[in-house]
Amino acid sequence: MKSNIYCVFVFLIGLSISYFISAQLIKEETKVQQNNIEVEGKSISFNIRGAIENNVEIIQLVTNRWLTLEDLNQHWQSDTNALKRINRSIKKIQLFPLIEQNKFSLPFDDLIEYADPMARKQQLRARSHLPMEKEKVISTFVYTSRSSYSEDNKLELNLQFPLIIEQVLIGYIEVSINIDMLMRHKIDTYQITKPFALSENGITLFSSLPEKTHINDITNQLTISLYGHQWQLMIWSHISAPNGDLFLIFSLLISLLAAITVKLLTLYYSMNKKHITDKEKYKRINDEWKNSQAKLIQSNKLASLGEIAAGIAHEINQPLQVICIHTDMCLDNLHNGNYHLVEKSCKAIVEQSDRIEKIVKQVGSFGRDSELDNYQKEIPNTIFSNVIGIVINQYNQDNVELRQVIPPSLPAVFCNKTQIEQVLINLLINAKDSVETSQNKVVFFKSHVQGNNLYIQVSDSGSGIDPNKINDIFTPFYTTKALGKGTGLGLSISYSIIHQHNGEIKVSSEIGKGSIFTVILPFEKRKLIRHE
Ligand SMILES: Nc1ncnc2c1ncn2[C@@H]1O[C@H](COP(=O)(O)OP(=O)(O)OP(=O)(O)O)[C@@H](O)[C@H]1O
Ligand SMILES: [Mg+2]
Repeated sequence: MKSNIYCVFVFLIGLSISYFISAQLIKEETKVQQNNIEVEGKSISFNIRGAIENNVEIIQLVTNRWLTLEDLNQHWQSDTNALKRINRSIKKIQLFPLIEQNKFSLPFDDLIEYADPMARKQQLRARSHLPMEKEKVISTFVYTSRSSYSEDNKLELNLQFPLIIEQVLIGYIEVSINIDMLMRHKIDTYQITKPFALSENGITLFSSLPEKTHINDITNQLTISLYGHQWQLMIWSHISAPNGDLFLIFSLLISLLAAITVKLLTLYYSMNKKHITDKEKYKRINDEWKNSQAKLIQSNKLASLGEIAAGIAHEINQPLQVICIHTDMCLDNLHNGNYHLVEKSCKAIVEQSDRIEKIVKQVGSFGRDSELDNYQKEIPNTIFSNVIGIVINQYNQDNVELRQVIPPSLPAVFCNKTQIEQVLINLLINAKDSVETSQNKVVFFKSHVQGNNLYIQVSDSGSGIDPNKINDIFTPFYTTKALGKGTGLGLSISYSIIHQHNGEIKVSSEIGKGSIFTVILPFEKRKLIRHE
């Protein structure tokens, strides 16, 4: 539930962030496009100006060759034809004379003649912007009059070049350039892609606009100043803003992705947490198992102790009686002055006390709580003498003979000493119990080394075990002993102890003949099977 709220939260945040980013991108893109249009506008204006200035230069180059009237009359036709050929937008080249017309021998149409004084006045009025004295002419200057329509209804740019020959301003060469042709030539040559229009004082000189273009679409406007004229250049362009819907879909996708990631992360986190709690639970169960295992082992030990207590009491009773007798003798001898006998009695008392101490020590160490994990290198002979020390009293009391076949020094075994002692005490007491009613009350306690293992064998000539029951003897609480005598835990605990040592416990038995219990313990410190 909580993770779903996180997801929605992340989704909304992601959506707002990506929407903001996409808005910024759109803004940037629009700005770039606007910049491009501005650059293109400048380039168009530069090209238009260049085209006209180029024409002017070429025309001046030609007219400058005419140094005398003779030159002019002689070369006019060929030169003007050449100019028209080079530049197809030059429609007309005429001479407006300021000296007597008869000095010119030009083709009829090329000389602007004046028929009568009235017509001449009109012509001069139309050229009021031109200086009529040589001194007022600025050399190499070109004059322009307002663009006008030609006979075939085409707008033309009129350029006027002053013609000074031999220090006399003899007239003006007037060149009409078809603006439409000039511009289209430029569009083709420079591959101008944006539609544009040119106007002067509100009159359109040229337009490359598609017919349906709306005036509102003008995106850039520039002024071209040319020979005293101000031309307005308008560029049409459509700014295609990046597709906002696409950005929105993109933002949605990114936010969804972020939300899914959060969901997966929270899932992973909760799974991890569950795994940790499972681990903790397992550890707790394992600890509890270890605890109960330790308690079971302890209770079995106490039960064994109860069984051997009678033997111990008997064993302690004997030295106690000896001590009592010697104490009495001591007192008597002290009274009678037989001091040399006192010493003998004291020695006997010390000896018997030592014997009691030994018995108490052995039983005491066995009865103590043993740690489950207390594994160490132990000398088997020490373990055996401890075990025998504890059970021997009972054997003696019940008149059972314990025959030991044990090599004097056996290699150390990596084991839990008190647990192994507990196993052996169980086996030895079971064997002793089994020979209770037998004629031959002998139990063998043997040990030998074979391979990497230590073999310990407890065999008896007792009652034996029913083959049908032999599988039950290792199950807890199985006992054939009288109520209060056996708990039925001895062998099941012995089995689990030996298996924790990576060892084995085996039995072979025959009814009426006896049983052999064999414990096999590995010497090496192998990885012990423990429930961890
Ligand atoms: N050496 C043996 N000879 C014959 N029967 C045996 C021998 N060892 C064990 N058994 C049988 O296996 C049973 C289970 O033995 P186990 O040591 O587990 O329990 P217990 O001796 O009856 O009681 P506990 O050991 O708890 O005092 C015994 O009651 C007995 O019937
Ligand atoms: Mg037993």
